[in-house]
Amino acid sequence: MGEETDTVERTAETEQDQYGDGTVVVGGDEERTATEWNDVVTPIHLSATHGVETPGYPDDGYSYGRSGNPTRDRLRDRLAGLSNAEHVLAAASGTTAISTVCLSLLRPGDKVLAGDSLYGGTTNLFDTLLDRFGIEIEYVDTSDTEAVVDALDASVDLLWVESPTNPLLQLCDIDALGDHSDEHGARLVVDNTFATPYGQRPLELGADVTICSTTKFLNGHSDSIGGAITTNDEGLFDQFAFVLREMLGAPLSPFDSYLVLRGLKTLPARMDRHEHNAGEVARFLADHEKVVTVNYPGLASHPQHELARRQLRNHGGMVSFEVDGDGATARALAESLEVFNLAFSLGGTESLVEHPASMSAAALSADELAAAGISDSLLRLSIGLEDPSDLVCDLSEALALL
Ligand SMILES: Cc1ncc(COP(=O)(O)O)c(C=O)c1O
Repeated sequence: MGEETDTVERTAETEQDQYGDGTVVVGGDEERTATEWNDVVTPIHLSATHGVETPGYPDDGYSYGRSGNPTRDRLRDRLAGLSNAEHVLAAASGTTAISTVCLSLLRPGDKVLAGDSLYGGTTNLFDTLLDRFGIEIEYVDTSDTEAVVDALDASVDLLWVESPTNPLLQLCDIDALGDHSDEHGARLVVDNTFATPYGQRPLELGADVTICSTTKFLNGHSDSIGGAITTNDEGLFDQFAFVLREMLGAPLSPFDSYLVLRGLKTLPARMDRHEHNAGEVARFLADHEKVVTVNYPGLASHPQHELARRQLRNHGGMVSFEVDGDGATARALAESLEVFNLAFSLGGTESLVEHPASMSAAALSADELAAAGISDSLLRLSIGLEDPSDLVCDLSEALALL
């Protein structure tokens, strides 16, 4: 009997929700009533500036596209509904969202406690830039709540976690970390890119802020770069909005806002299929003699499977695994796949394979890779929407060549 995955029981929507997620993302009548032409799809508003009645900033309405744009605001509202968040900002990339939060909340002398196995770009940004601004950074295994508690003290201003992590699919107990960070006066930021707000709502679990790369599952079609920030704290939102609009000047463009709005409409349907396909692939890999480890929260063998059942409404479409061999073996496998594209990024309709040590985590030194647990024989799969039998067959044929 091979490895098993189970289906997550989808809990009833929270009381604040008027509609379920599938209805919220489609938008229904809200779309039609937004314009005088009864559009059923949000149009792309390209105007960079808007006329005002009298000199000065209008009390309501639009003035300048960097501060507000009707297409972006529609995306903001849709994401707020899906995330059950009071405040949302759409940014030019996930990285812009990360920078906006750091620049807003951190001052020289502050300290960040961060997961020791984050997306390589985040670790690179922390190591390269935060240090330059006199901000201390300490890394900890955030999948180990006790280790975080030991490292948390009054000197920590920000606790930064990813759950599930990229590329090892480790989880952290957001609820517990929310309580502990509150006790020590630290803000908890969760990078929710892998789970998406359909899979998990960190603000409801006690996070102060979430960031997401909309480039991935939220847009879902590998044709837009973007990011989002959510919070229920108005004071934090004002700081983020100022930095994003007035300092970085990097909100999401109207066209990208349209693309993400369009992608969002199918998010629940896509995520359910991603999860189904990823389960098939993960089970196949877990049974294969040339595979040493498989990381997927839906597998009963995942060390935090119980937490996954509690915390995630969808196990997601990301799987990583170590082949029995060295880096050359893993790279040869990645190159011989035919249905999977060898490419950066994740979360699109098409399945992708990448070699983290030389691609998404390439900015990390050998020591940092080792500390993050990213070995040279690790491959990461973004499982798309193809027929799962074709994905399994592709992997099976490529593994047979090793
Ligand atoms: C978990 C995670 N967070 C943030 C980012 C950065 O997003 P973007 O590429 O949109 O800047 C990525 C990119 O891969 C990611 O995987």
